Amino acid sequence: MTEIERLRADVLQLTQEKQQLEVYKQMNQLMQRGLHVMLSLSNPHDMFIRFFALLAEVIPFHRASILLIEADRVQLMACTEDCAAIPPAQQQQLLAMLPKTQMNVADLTKVVGWPGYSGGSCQGMSSMLVQPFNTEGSAYCLMLGHRQQAAFSAGQAKLVGEFVAFAASTLDRIEAKHLRQETELLKARQQRMEESLIQSEKMASLGQLAAGVAHELNNPLGYILSNISTFKSYVTTYQRLIQCYQKLNTLNVDTEAYQQQQTELAEIYKSEDIGYMLQDSIELVNDSMEGAIRLRDIINSLRRFSHPDRGQLEIVSVNEILESTVKIIWSEIKNKTTVRYALAAEPLFVLANPSQLSQVFLNMLMNAAQAMSGVVGKIELSTFAEADHAVIKISDNGQGIPDAIISRIFDPFFTTKDVGKGTGLGLSLSKAIIDQHHGTVSVSSKIAVGTTFEIRLPLQQAS
Ligand SMILES: Nc1ncnc2c1ncn2[C@@H]1O[C@H](COP(=O)(O)OP(=O)(O)OP(=O)(O)O)[C@@H](O)[C@H]1O
Ligand SMILES: [Mg+2]
Repeated sequence: MTEIERLRADVLQLTQEKQQLEVYKQMNQLMQRGLHVMLSLSNPHDMFIRFFALLAEVIPFHRASILLIEADRVQLMACTEDCAAIPPAQQQQLLAMLPKTQMNVADLTKVVGWPGYSGGSCQGMSSMLVQPFNTEGSAYCLMLGHRQQAAFSAGQAKLVGEFVAFAASTLDRIEAKHLRQETELLKARQQRMEESLIQSEKMASLGQLAAGVAHELNNPLGYILSNISTFKSYVTTYQRLIQCYQKLNTLNVDTEAYQQQQTELAEIYKSEDIGYMLQDSIELVNDSMEGAIRLRDIINSLRRFSHPDRGQLEIVSVNEILESTVKIIWSEIKNKTTVRYALAAEPLFVLANPSQLSQVFLNMLMNAAQAMSGVVGKIELSTFAEADHAVIKISDNGQGIPDAIISRIFDPFFTTKDVGKGTGLGLSLSKAIIDQHHGTVSVSSKIAVGTTFEIRLPLQQAS
């Protein structure tokens, strides 16, 4: 190779590299501006029209269009001109003819059966660059038409191919981002709904319980009042006795007044059974104290249950919440069932919102009591630690749940109770609460034998 030939070869290579760089530069500009278009426009039609304008800056063409390709039809999504919609017969033809990869048609008249229907995007075009592309959800085809034959070079075809691939993957990413944002929004909305449902379900059960609780408060209050009024009458007698003794103390033993006081004292002892009174007084006070403690417990339990929900988590003892919940609904269930405890000897601490946890136990206890038919049933409450979980089992010997419906009982609004009796929200809300506490809830049941709900919550160390 002579010096001149070598120089020529170098110049040729440099020219080719320059052309290549030119294509890269154009591609780069296209991508940057394409990205801007995609980010600024959300309407696909407008976005495609802007793409056409961008492409026109680097590739000469007379008409551009984008087709949306579905399983059984083809639709014109966007076109640089006012093109007619594709008639159904041509749609089938197009479906059969559209390529899966790029096709650079130098002379359209040579393609047998190409649908050049009047007013369509191919009408009057002689050559055509057909570029299919897919986004995650849809398949499209970009068509660039030119009135001259063989109008599109291999370099231009390559540029179009790369730009379309870039645009499709960017569109996917934008769609995925939108989807993620929408999912987040939906999740937040669902959580708000669940929270307000939990609150309103709690208010409803509180209302239902109010009557029962009033009765429950009335009972100890009744006997405390009657005890106090008996005790008051005893106190009158004690006052008379004490006054007599005080007087006796001030009088001389030999005087008549002393004798009179002695007689009065004897009369008091004769008319009142002082020994019994003293014994009874102690019992009256003890009973009243017991009643007052019971009132205090019920009120504390109610307070815990109805405490406004600030979503605050505390380290709480599962056994304590279970016992106080039984106290709250005792008046509702005591005629239907007995309750037997088999609680862990050591306290089981969990990180929970106490009023929400109480709500879960209450729903399940209510369901268990409502499942008793006729005879007085049995509920057994057991708690224990297993690995790093606190396990709470609520078992009843009620009617059981048929296999056909057991998979639906946690669904919102699923109820087998009469209209107006059950909302069907008890278990779905309970499950939502347990989920929020990173726990699980499961059920096992046998017809006419009974049902067991098992709740598992992560154990915590008490601080
Ligand atoms: N211990 C149980 N024994 C038998 N069936 C039960 C038991 N617990 C739940 N079920 C069934 O699951 C259904 C759904 O219970 P859930 O607590 O969600 O709603 P509900 O009790 O019907 O209505 P609400 O709780 O609003 O009063 C009940 O209607 C009942 O058929
Ligand atoms: Mg229920």
